[in-house]
Amino acid sequence: MNQYSPLDAMTYKGNLTLPKVPESNMALSVLGVFLGLLLEVSTHGPSSVPRSSWKHEDLNLVEFSESGVFNYSTLLLSEEREALYVGAREAIFELNIHNVSIKNNQVLWKVPEPHINKCTLKGKSKETDCLNYIRVLQMLNKETLYVCGTHAFQPFCDYLNLTDFKLMNKQEDGRGKCSFDPAQSFTTVMVDGELYSGTAYNFLGSEPIISRYSLSQSLLRTEYSTSWLNEPSFVFADVIREGRNSADGDDDKIYYFFTEVSVEYEFFGKLLIPRIARVCKGDLGGQRTLQKKWTSFLKAKLVCSMPELNFVFNVIHDVFILKSPDWRETVIYGVFTSQWGNVGLSAVCVYNMTSVDEVFSNGKYMQKATVEQSHTKWVRYNGMTPSPRPGACINNQNRLQNINSSLLLPDKTLQFVKDHPLLADPVLPISNGPRLIAKNVNYTQIAVERVTALDGNVYHVIFTATDKGVLHKSVVYESGVHTVEEVQLLKKQEPVKTLLLSKQGAGFLYAGSDSGVVQSPTAFCDKYLSCEDCVLSRDPYCAWNTHSTSCVNVFQKSENTQKRKLIQNLRGDADVCPSARPRMMENYQHVVVKPGSSAELPCRVRSHLAQILWKVNGSVLTEASHFLLIRDTSLLIYSVAPEDQGRYECWSVEPASGKNFSRLVAVYELKLELLESSESSSSSRVFSSIDIVEEINPDTSTLRSTSAAAKDDKGNDSNGHTAGISLLTSTEKPPLTSTSSSKPHSKLSIPPETGDTNPRPETLDPSAKYLQNDNSGALLFLFLLFFLLFLCALSYNCYMQYLPAPCLRLRTALLGSPKKPQPEYIACESGLMEPVSEKPDLTEQLQQNGAQQRPQALRDTGYETEPECGNGKIQSHGYEEPDDSPSKQRPFDIDCESQPIEYADADVPY
Ligand SMILES: *[C@@H]1O[C@H](CO)[C@@H](O)[C@H](O)[C@H]1NC(C)=O
Ligand SMILES: *[C@@H]1O[C@H](CO)[C@@H](O)[C@H](O)[C@H]1NC(C)=O
Ligand SMILES: *[C@@H]1O[C@H](CO)[C@@H](O)[C@H](O)[C@H]1NC(C)=O
Ligand SMILES: *[C@@H]1O[C@H](CO)[C@@H](O)[C@H](O)[C@H]1NC(C)=O
Ligand SMILES: *[C@@H]1O[C@H](CO)[C@@H](O)[C@H](O)[C@H]1NC(C)=O
Repeated sequence: MNQYSPLDAMTYKGNLTLPKVPESNMALSVLGVFLGLLLEVSTHGPSSVPRSSWKHEDLNLVEFSESGVFNYSTLLLSEEREALYVGAREAIFELNIHNVSIKNNQVLWKVPEPHINKCTLKGKSKETDCLNYIRVLQMLNKETLYVCGTHAFQPFCDYLNLTDFKLMNKQEDGRGKCSFDPAQSFTTVMVDGELYSGTAYNFLGSEPIISRYSLSQSLLRTEYSTSWLNEPSFVFADVIREGRNSADGDDDKIYYFFTEVSVEYEFFGKLLIPRIARVCKGDLGGQRTLQKKWTSFLKAKLVCSMPELNFVFNVIHDVFILKSPDWRETVIYGVFTSQWGNVGLSAVCVYNMTSVDEVFSNGKYMQKATVEQSHTKWVRYNGMTPSPRPGACINNQNRLQNINSSLLLPDKTLQFVKDHPLLADPVLPISNGPRLIAKNVNYTQIAVERVTALDGNVYHVIFTATDKGVLHKSVVYESGVHTVEEVQLLKKQEPVKTLLLSKQGAGFLYAGSDSGVVQSPTAFCDKYLSCEDCVLSRDPYCAWNTHSTSCVNVFQKSENTQKRKLIQNLRGDADVCPSARPRMMENYQHVVVKPGSSAELPCRVRSHLAQILWKVNGSVLTEASHFLLIRDTSLLIYSVAPEDQGRYECWSVEPASGKNFSRLVAVYELKLELLESSESSSSSRVFSSIDIVEEINPDTSTLRSTSAAAKDDKGNDSNGHTAGISLLTSTEKPPLTSTSSSKPHSKLSIPPETGDTNPRPETLDPSAKYLQNDNSGALLFLFLLFFLLFLCALSYNCYMQYLPAPCLRLRTALLGSPKKPQPEYIACESGLMEPVSEKPDLTEQLQQNGAQQRPQALRDTGYETEPECGNGKIQSHGYEEPDDSPSKQRPFDIDCESQPIEYADADVPY
């Protein structure tokens, strides 16, 4: 655990010693986000660019939607009944699992008029809020579904008979099982006929609850207290069968995942923290203390950060538990973003179930402590803990002491767990950092599958869906994560609300959104038209069938698929492919243009990892040549002159397995139109590029891998990636100015050797292709804007001769609107920075030290009841590593540095 920062070494000038608090630099590092650290983040970490992109219109995905019905956000898969159950707005559907466009059944569930009226009277919208959003669909038994809907902000549950697909009209109270608000996040899981949920218990959504409903036992719930749950946003819950074959008679556990507002760190706004919480399945509540409340509720912080950069992903959006028969081998996948959505980074972190259990079974507790009579803060509890361990499930050892159920637990244990639901030790991800980082996307959903490839190894395939309806498929290899493809799953750019994987090997994904349900295969092998493309995709589902000469899905059993005829190399070593047959050399695509006109030679390489290389007459083309524009998809030659005639080749150079694989994508023979044959139509012969690649030059087709392997790439399929040749037939030279001004995409920088030597293509960042818009530019702009704002405010304050005190008042006034931390931040910061403004070298200081200084300026905001940084005698040694840091010279730092961890519950009534 290298999570400790020098901050932790601080001591307290109170009657209490401040113990080490892990991750206490979180608030600080989060601030680093605004300060350009981000620029660094985007160049570090296991980020991955999807190799291929598939458009929605090219895929023929099976879709379902019913006119007039929206919000298909609840999905339940029943492999047994071969059905996909869909909960939408006012309707439940049963779809065919093999083809979701086939609707087997449906039932409508509307809200009666009186309920709607009651709902609108409370100020909710009749058109959107006061409807019945079906949000819970759980299998109760083989014939019955348990369903709940928001029912016009008055949740109700019912039973759905699957035999006749009718609601039984039992209409049970749905409070605590389903959210009131259709937009509020919540989670449920049915375990052995008992419904576990995490949601809000009241109309306002202000009373969070984790509860269990069962027919045989009484309702069990969380204590209503911010130390148990503080404005949580639930994302997932599931059972881990730890009780099965447990040697010590331990119990099964239900794990919850949510983001909540931190109590242990204070921040200028609300600092969000991702949590993992658990309860024991056998919990019955306490006898006197914690009556009908969980006696086993404990929660811990889920860390997803890049320690080397102090960058924290602190909002969890979805979780997938990749289960194993032995729970110890189970791993938890979570998708995270940062609290500041504009950062545009998503991360996937993976947790080991063994280490999760270790934290809950042996971790230290956090304790609320009052300091200086006014503040409460959370510190690590190092005292004696009562026995049996508070929050633990009943095991054989307890049973030996005649404690057979939670009802028999001693009051001491129960009181302790009631006051200490938070554990001090965090759950750290495997390898201490994200498994995957994606730029410019917001992941909303995740599903993970184990796939046994032809090499006999098992790989984890991660499917992540975004708020723009895109699916990413990434494979975890030893060398790092490889993102095989991105798929535009949804027609509209809307969030994927639910993502489900079919049973192992069935090969389908189901995605629910506001406008419909989409069924997608887990692989698109048939999109790869050559062996090289198939192998370079590094997709464990796909292999090249030498018999049928097609890229096939190895999990789709077909008669003529014999394993020995399949070629797969997950390192992407395309040398395993059979040599391409030599082709006739004469059959280039002939392009004839008038002298002085322009020619556009298309070349679309579908792999985002590949670079494009143009050769003319066998030597590499650079933009130094006149009137050339090398673009992502084509080569544009302005004003064709006689010396421009020749053989033009477009090559794709893709790195994999430590080699560069070069493939010839298109060949053109450019000729000037002879003056006598002035019939204009002759120049516009258009060929499909498939023709070309079939007719590859034999010189190059024998070259392999690092020595400029030339492969025939039929990769330019009918999807219009290479549409053919378009000729600009203007007889005038385009004005030079426009030529030069339209050359910013200059890509070639290193002219590789010709012929058989290793082609060294342009130093083009592949991500630039994929992302289209350059992220860092925008960030830099933001940073500059921010800095400019700061300077303006600074000079204004300077002029007005303000002192820190007015700032504090200003900050207090603004504290009421925590949802807009930035204005508050700027306003306050400018005030605080003011005393330093006389220093001429302030800007320089900021530049050198910005990342550390701003947090300091912030940390002392908000306590107007006390002199600034009232606990300010705390020593701050080692807070910043360089002791001679310029910040040390600044007057206010002496006060403010000293309050690194703020006082969480200061104004929270208990
Ligand atoms: C329901 O779907 C509509 C139409 O797409 C959308 O505008 C609305 O935000 C959705 N509501 C919820 C609660 O998801
Ligand atoms: C989880 O951690 C345990 C102990 O640290 C280790 O033995 C096990 O291999 C890990 N499992 C995974 C899937 O990483
Ligand atoms: C991610 O979500 C945030 C907030 O919802 C939004 O501001 C941002 O533009 C999104 N980013 C992308 C790349 O979609
Ligand atoms: C290519 O070679 C031909 C003759 O072999 C020559 O006329 C032409 O100018 C060359 N083209 C270029 C661009 O070098
Ligand atoms: C592959 O090409 C890149 C330039 O695009 C070069 O930096 C790298 O060294 C090459 N790798 C091999 C193995 O030749």
